[in-house]
Amino acid sequence: MQKKLARYALMASSLLSLSAAIAGVLTFYLLDRFDEAPLLLWTMMLLVIAAATFASLHFSYQAYRRRQKLLPNRITENENRLTTVLDNLISAVVMIGDREQIVLLNKTAEEMLGIQAKYYLDKHYSDIHYHEELKRLMQKCIGSKEIIREELVIQFPEKRVLDVNMVPISPDRDHWSGMIIVLHDISEIRRLERIRSEFVANVSHELKTPIAAVKGFAETLLSGAVNDPDTAKSFLQIIHDESERLNRLILNILDLSKIESKQAPLQLSPIELHQFLDKTISMMEPEAEKKNIRLTMQADKEIYIEADEDRLQQVVLNLISNGISYTGEGGSVHVSVRLLEADEDRVQEEVEIVVEDNGIGIPERDLPRIFERFYRVDKARSRSSGGTGLGLSIVKHIIDLHRGTIHVESKVGEGSRFIIKLPVIQYS
Ligand SMILES: Nc1ncnc2c1ncn2[C@@H]1O[C@H](COP(=O)(O)OP(=O)(O)O)[C@@H](O)[C@H]1O
Ligand SMILES: [Mg+2]
Repeated sequence: MQKKLARYALMASSLLSLSAAIAGVLTFYLLDRFDEAPLLLWTMMLLVIAAATFASLHFSYQAYRRRQKLLPNRITENENRLTTVLDNLISAVVMIGDREQIVLLNKTAEEMLGIQAKYYLDKHYSDIHYHEELKRLMQKCIGSKEIIREELVIQFPEKRVLDVNMVPISPDRDHWSGMIIVLHDISEIRRLERIRSEFVANVSHELKTPIAAVKGFAETLLSGAVNDPDTAKSFLQIIHDESERLNRLILNILDLSKIESKQAPLQLSPIELHQFLDKTISMMEPEAEKKNIRLTMQADKEIYIEADEDRLQQVVLNLISNGISYTGEGGSVHVSVRLLEADEDRVQEEVEIVVEDNGIGIPERDLPRIFERFYRVDKARSRSSGGTGLGLSIVKHIIDLHRGTIHVESKVGEGSRFIIKLPVIQYS
């Protein structure tokens, strides 16, 4: 805009001076009195030409000044843009110059490597503290002038697995003008891979026990035990129980992988909690009666929540089933519900569901781990009560999907309390 104005001004002033000159010449020529021109006319004509020239010079100078000012502005603007991009990259970028000095370290690199650019810029790369392996790779890249891609584990400032990419900047094989290093933090990917392979190992281990039992007892029956009716009956009972357990285990695993892969999205609907708990508890009553356990509930009517009813039922059934399994004969399991109004600490209305028992309790050191897959405090007790060790991890996943929280309070010998908080409305 400014540039255009300056150009127009320049054109106008040039036209003005030109027309003034032509007008002057024409006047004197036409009057044919060039020699005797009055002094006043001469002066006026010169003044007009001088003013026009001055104006044109003035405007050209202004335009020049403006262009000079714009130029550095544009360079700074480009530099700012580049810095913003580099500082907001989730990958770490380090650039090494032709004297093997550090010429660039973006914010992620500072954070990932635990070093500060202000101390290291312009220093030789070997001056970096720690990261001996990384420096060895840099040396290799500088020496070979070839692209390097490797996975590296660093310990400082914390343990991370890095995917390292080093690209030499060399116009040809004889010249070396630096190197660009890009680092990606792949710790989380590796952690998930490890969990997955541990899960496969755990599943195989869990399947092995019931399969070995079924196989062993069937073989004993085949090799003669079948002729003794009492032994045969007890062995067949074991085979039956173990195959039931296998079935439960496989159903749990399938359920868990379905919930985890988010293949089955939540089927949300409004649920009236009093009715819902009444129905759910009645499903567990036969189980409770077997151990003479008192199963009670307390819920106000007309408390509604938006949730996936089948999944929520799975949560409550699992918790009640645990309450019954890990409580001795004659104990009690209680389920209660209350509405938590929104206030300054709570952004939106929530529902609290508590399942508590007065059973064996959970030792404090095990509390942080009981939501992990296959984690059991007492393996033998869990197995004998038909547990698979997956119940609570399924519960935790379902609560997470509903954007809720679950935590547990427990004392050995006194009982356990599982507290769930769920938002009343699921905003998508
Ligand atoms: N109400 C409870 N009282 C005592 N221990 C519990 C209770 N609920 C869960 N646990 C402990 O947490 C472990 C994990 O529970 P869960 O995932 O349901 O697996 P399991 O199939 O063994 O019941 C159980 O093996 C048990 O040791
Ligand atoms: Mg369980």
